[in-house]
Amino acid sequence: MKPFLFAANWKMFFSLRAEEQFFKQYQAELVSLARTSNTTVALFPSFVSLPSLCTASKDSPLKIGAQDCSAHELGAYTGQVAAQSLAELGCSYTIIGHSERKVFQEGATAIADKAKQLFAHNICPIICVGETQEEYRQRKTKAVLEEQLRPFLPIAQAARKPFFVAYEPQWAIGSGVTPTPEEIATMFDHLAHLLGSLPKEQWSLLYGGSISAVLAPQLYTIAGLGGLLIGKASTDFQEFKKIVLSRHSTKN
Ligand code: PGA
Repeated sequence: MKPFLFAANWKMFFSLRAEEQFFKQYQAELVSLARTSNTTVALFPSFVSLPSLCTASKDSPLKIGAQDCSAHELGAYTGQVAAQSLAELGCSYTIIGHSERKVFQEGATAIADKAKQLFAHNICPIICVGETQEEYRQRKTKAVLEEQLRPFLPIAQAARKPFFVAYEPQWAIGSGVTPTPEEIATMFDHLAHLLGSLPKEQWSLLYGGSISAVLAPQLYTIAGLGGLLIGKASTDFQEFKKIVLSRHSTKN
């Protein structure tokens, strides 16, 4: 059975010093959460904290990942960070296609190119997909997910390396409003159908969007849930800990 992933997306909630301070304060407890059986705990701090957190987590069960990467190999791309650099730091995962980056106008093809870079450097991509509120209202979610995954599928097929797809409805991120577990399960079935040509061992599904310690137990009942992508709640250690620990008391 694949380990269940708790991915803590710190976004830009903390400054560099605050990220280092948070990590120092909770490192021992985070490591002990990461030792929970069949569980992976991964932190996604800002780029500037990656060197210190990667160094401090070397040889520890705690994994570190980046919140984005460039779609390009090394070259003239001002302000971007290459997957190769993330690999050299020791990142295990990288989030791509997060909806908070949609303001940068990146389309599904650029996101697929990012995945290609990550696969080439043996970093596991977490590709985010999800509909806007308007698309949800118009019941277009399935078509949107298909469109967002289309350019990625042949790249994943050729890479034959593991990846996660995170279903994150854009209207559920940071809003406190979430789909019902039944709605998430329906989208998971659809994603499984879209990923059907790839071996089942290659991929897992995550849910993300306003996860809290109160919501988490309801999510654990969803068939096919391979982990959670947690934003704001992951920046409160006690809340994050409750989310991780409640899995064992609620899973069926
Ligand atoms: P949230 O963010 O948990 O704060 O809603 C989730 C995400 O954006 O990954």
